[in-house]
Amino acid sequence: MQTRVLTGITTTGTPHLGNYVGAIRPAIAASRRTDVDAFFFMADYHALIKSDDPARIERSRLEIAATWLAAGLDPDKVTFYQQSDIPEIPELTWLLTCVTAKGLLNRAHAYKAAVDKNTETGEDQDAGITAGLYMYPVLMAADILAFDAQQVPVGRDQIQHIEMARDIGQRFNHIYGREFFVLPEVVIEEQVATLPGLDGRKMSKSYDNTIPLFAGGAKHLREIIMRIVTDSRMPGEAKDPESSSLFTIFRAFASETESHAFRRALEEGIGWGEAKQVLYERLEADIAPMRERYEQLIARPADIEGILREGARKARAIAGPKIAALRDAIGLRAMSSANVAAGKSTQVQKAAKPPRFASFRDSDGSFRFRLFSSEGEELLLSKSFKDPKEAGAVQKRLKTLGGAAATVRSLPRSLVLALDDEPVATAPEYADELERDEALSYLRAALDSLAEQEKSE
Ligand code: TRP
Repeated sequence: MQTRVLTGITTTGTPHLGNYVGAIRPAIAASRRTDVDAFFFMADYHALIKSDDPARIERSRLEIAATWLAAGLDPDKVTFYQQSDIPEIPELTWLLTCVTAKGLLNRAHAYKAAVDKNTETGEDQDAGITAGLYMYPVLMAADILAFDAQQVPVGRDQIQHIEMARDIGQRFNHIYGREFFVLPEVVIEEQVATLPGLDGRKMSKSYDNTIPLFAGGAKHLREIIMRIVTDSRMPGEAKDPESSSLFTIFRAFASETESHAFRRALEEGIGWGEAKQVLYERLEADIAPMRERYEQLIARPADIEGILREGARKARAIAGPKIAALRDAIGLRAMSSANVAAGKSTQVQKAAKPPRFASFRDSDGSFRFRLFSSEGEELLLSKSFKDPKEAGAVQKRLKTLGGAAATVRSLPRSLVLALDDEPVATAPEYADELERDEALSYLRAALDSLAEQEKSE
């Protein structure tokens, strides 16, 4: 069973070494695991909240897409797309907006920080704050919930947003009476290194201390590395690796043996200039082949576009039917659907639940289960099992086999379900053979639908 892991990348800046080590590299490594179904997308609608410079938005999308592809993201294996290519996302954003408490959004850190800043500077509290910033968490919830993502790897600053996505999804589920959305879990990568920037503080765009990953080429990379701040120790003087940014950055790329050798060199008094050259060469060994791919990619934006379009197609194949089901559930249905005409309640019709097994303990202490259809009709009653594990195993096998498991002995007015020739369950009595045959096709459909669910879990 695969876990669906989804993450968005806001397309504002140009990727730097810190992004690579802290986010891109671990995410791509995780996406290669066979038990992961990875979704990566450019959060370009979110980018609009942070930037109103069209050229910057355009450039950043291209650079970020090319960077992830150059760094080894395999678009055949993962679903890689642009948020703005998925119309279901803004559509879902509105559906979610209508169940989101305004008070929840009032508590969002980013919005609160903006209000606090206004208050401090004596401005009107909403000065310069767009409704986009306010709605940021709802758009993000739609990104996640549209695909039933189970895990969302993000930085610590995003934890609250994932919690809000859970809250919003849960509220929708509650109001409309069904588990429409999987509630996502946040995943914080604890082990990944945060890199120091040129001045020794955390590498970050907001400190203006970043080392670009590809921009400017090898020559620029070397120049920037030469600008990393060190202490004033002379060549020949022992240097402390643990307090040196050079060593921290080196270690994020090198093997243990290499790091050990670099540590020794520092302790034995290698000059800072020479140490920077060693660092540059080590980084360049990893970066050069990626940079070459990057440059090839960025020279052919139409190819990147093609890849992202294909990703959008895959993504919409999931989000499209999901939104259609949601529209139906909340009452945005075809007018020809019978409910209104037939004078039925215009209240929300609770949409059908998936078929399900229900286990119970018989009065004699044995264990049994029933299978109910999505309409709540009893389809099967199992025989008695002494061991609850045995009853569980039979359910599991039925789910795994799906409708194919419905090998039955047809009694004229009943069904006996057998696994490996062993009868395991019976269906209720039917009025006649016709009804029995109909029941058999319902049973097959229910088992198929359970198998489907089992697969997607
Ligand atoms: N807000 C995230 C960030 O700034 C980017 C993002 C947008 C995202 N939508 C998402 C991350 C959905 C995870 C899931 O980092």
